[in-house]
Amino acid sequence: MPREIITLQAGQCGNSVGSQFWQQLCQEHGINQDGNLEDFATEGGDRKDVFFYQSDDTRYIPRAILLDLEPRVINGIQTGPYRNIYNPENFYIHKDGTGAGNNWAAGYAMGESVQEEVMDMIDREADGSDSLEGFMLLHSIAGGTGSGLGSFLLERMNDRFPKKLIQTYSVFPDTAQADVVVHPYNSLLSLRRLAQNADSVVVLDNGALSRIAANTLHVQEPSFQQTNQLVSTVMSASTTTLRYPGYMHNDLVGIVASLIPTPRCHFLTTSYTPFTGDQVEQAKAVRKTTVLEVMRRLLQPKNRMVSINPSKSSCYISILNIIQGEADPTDVHKSLLRIRERRLATFIPWGPASIQVALTRKSPYVQSSHRVSGLMLANHTGVATLFKRIVFQYDRLRKRNAFLESYKREAPFADGLNEFDEAKAVVQDLIAEYEDAEQPDYLTKESAGKEGADAAAGA
Ligand code: GTP
Repeated sequence: MPREIITLQAGQCGNSVGSQFWQQLCQEHGINQDGNLEDFATEGGDRKDVFFYQSDDTRYIPRAILLDLEPRVINGIQTGPYRNIYNPENFYIHKDGTGAGNNWAAGYAMGESVQEEVMDMIDREADGSDSLEGFMLLHSIAGGTGSGLGSFLLERMNDRFPKKLIQTYSVFPDTAQADVVVHPYNSLLSLRRLAQNADSVVVLDNGALSRIAANTLHVQEPSFQQTNQLVSTVMSASTTTLRYPGYMHNDLVGIVASLIPTPRCHFLTTSYTPFTGDQVEQAKAVRKTTVLEVMRRLLQPKNRMVSINPSKSSCYISILNIIQGEADPTDVHKSLLRIRERRLATFIPWGPASIQVALTRKSPYVQSSHRVSGLMLANHTGVATLFKRIVFQYDRLRKRNAFLESYKREAPFADGLNEFDEAKAVVQDLIAEYEDAEQPDYLTKESAGKEGADAAAGA
């Protein structure tokens, strides 16, 4: 029985990333630009129905809903080479077409006004699946639509589908070189919903993506098109165990359960290696790709797709390495021993210190010049340093009451600025939770932060 996943893409970033993700999935499963299976795609053994359904004329159609408050990116998809794969009923562009003006509150408020139409689309898509496992939200948290409408949807989806998993791929801003001046406001407000209404959040940030593009791929000032190729590679790798199932990690709940031992610490970081010309044109060609080399590189901070500054006490809560290609299980075993001997990864003191490994197939239809590639999904307490940076930048803006007027004009702030204060309390509790998780008595100690978060959640 397939365990279907519906993808929601919101805003410019969400739709641009999503469009590349679908192109990649089509290539990996041998689906052409019209949604038909290529003649050569006869190998079978893959599960296309997790992410696609078949129309009456047997074309494959993504289980995707594309949402935006301004038309540009979705119009680009509707006129692009893959325009025919999508269900035309699954595009939603707000009739005003003005966007949310990089204002979380505007995006959230528009969510209220369009909810009936959008929830109808989601319900229709959910009714069309046999055994829906959950949802994936693709968005950025720095602008107005992906963050505000995204936050609104996360809350509603929790109410409407309480038993379904919600995973997000959330693009955080490059905090050093912000292109949206109010990103700390939007990020903080979104982070609250990611903490309270998502089961698992894959954190990516534009700073790290640009750094990887520059260092690994030798592309200075990468375009979004290029950074999105990195993101779609990560997304496709992190879903391979669902699409080419083996014994373990073959549904989302299995992956989430293995990585997230306590529900509040559900922010995952990723690393991928090697990025080569297969995925990104300008990339330099390959190096040695043994299982040990891949697993070792995955632990190197420079390959991490998120900018965190781990402290001395930071540690891994869990790691899942998804290794694709020709990997011999005995090599995996030896590599794990070597990593342990050399103490290449520090784990929490209250749980098993083990790296889980899933060996999966590669698509037979996409040529690759390396033998083995790997994705690491990790739950690392150092992610809290990213949240601290957002709180710090938020405090700086807020102290000066900078740019608050446009927020005050929107419905979520009609009764004052509580929304900000509540969001900050939740994010501070989240930071405290990760710091607690570094201590040996984490599972036995009373949680100081929890009450604040529950109060803000209205629990
Ligand atoms: P509004 O424009 O306010 O309606 O909201 P939006 O959600 O459409 O905004 P957008 O997605 O553009 O969010 C802004 C943030 O996303 C900024 O930090 C951008 O750098 C980043 N961003 C925008 N497009 C892309 C993209 O295609 N890829 C990546 N990686 N980041 C993007």
